[in-house]
Amino acid sequence: MVSVGNRGLQREQVPEAFDVGARAYDRLVGANPGYHDHLRISARRMRIPDGGRGLRLLDAGCGTGASTAALLQAAPHAEIVAVDASSGMLAEATAKTWPASVRFVHSPIEAIADAGVHGAFDAILAAYLVRNLADPDSQLRTFRHLLRPGGTLAIHEYSVGDSRAAKAIWNAVCWGIIIPSGWRQTGDSTLYRHLWRSVNTFDGAAAFQRRLVAAGFTGVHSETMPGWQRDIVHTFLADAPR
Ligand SMILES: C[S@@+](CC[C@H](N)C(=O)[O-])C[C@H]1O[C@@H](n2cnc3c(N)ncnc32)[C@H](O)[C@@H]1O
Repeated sequence: MVSVGNRGLQREQVPEAFDVGARAYDRLVGANPGYHDHLRISARRMRIPDGGRGLRLLDAGCGTGASTAALLQAAPHAEIVAVDASSGMLAEATAKTWPASVRFVHSPIEAIADAGVHGAFDAILAAYLVRNLADPDSQLRTFRHLLRPGGTLAIHEYSVGDSRAAKAIWNAVCWGIIIPSGWRQTGDSTLYRHLWRSVNTFDGAAAFQRRLVAAGFTGVHSETMPGWQRDIVHTFLADAPR
């Protein structure tokens, strides 16, 4: 029996909750104006050179492939390894058409070496993943080790802790739209209540930047999104030290 606590689900229960929501996921995020645009903005902010020619990229927590598609658009010539722990989400991703340069791997991000995925990567995108991890600090350090020196990490994530207005909008959107729509589409509101709580209890943008610095990254900074998700969704950018 899963229950959504004050901080959301127990983190090891999250991929299973995504299995339940997988078939409705694309429909639900498609109704969110800006979802795909914002992923593309984060992928562009990574400034991957030369369309990714000769580069290897990791999409950590790729889900149904929305973030993978954004990476592919920013770097059409790169090799992309896309990893997710939810078989349901990956089934949705792999049902789409991809070039041979994109490979999907079913694995918790914490155990990708056991699934045969090794660095070095030139850049890593983790979209809506880090908030869902049991030990984000350890995973951020692992991302640093997986990157080649000078490689870029982009964390695309909700962070409302530094803005009262953002928090108020987030709570209104969750209870007015996301939770009722998720329940209508799947008959189960667990994942959407987890989303609500996990965002409310996640780091503010300044605290998350400090986490990235503590994990050994340099050049840490963040930019938010345009539109209604201003100060709600951010791209956090960081470099592995040279
Ligand atoms: C909100 S979805 C985002 C999917 C995609 N990145 C996007 O932007 O649409 C988060 C994804 O992270 C995956 N996930 C959660 N915890 C994970 C973990 N420990 N290892 C790998 N994937 C995980 C979930 O299964 C889910 O597919």
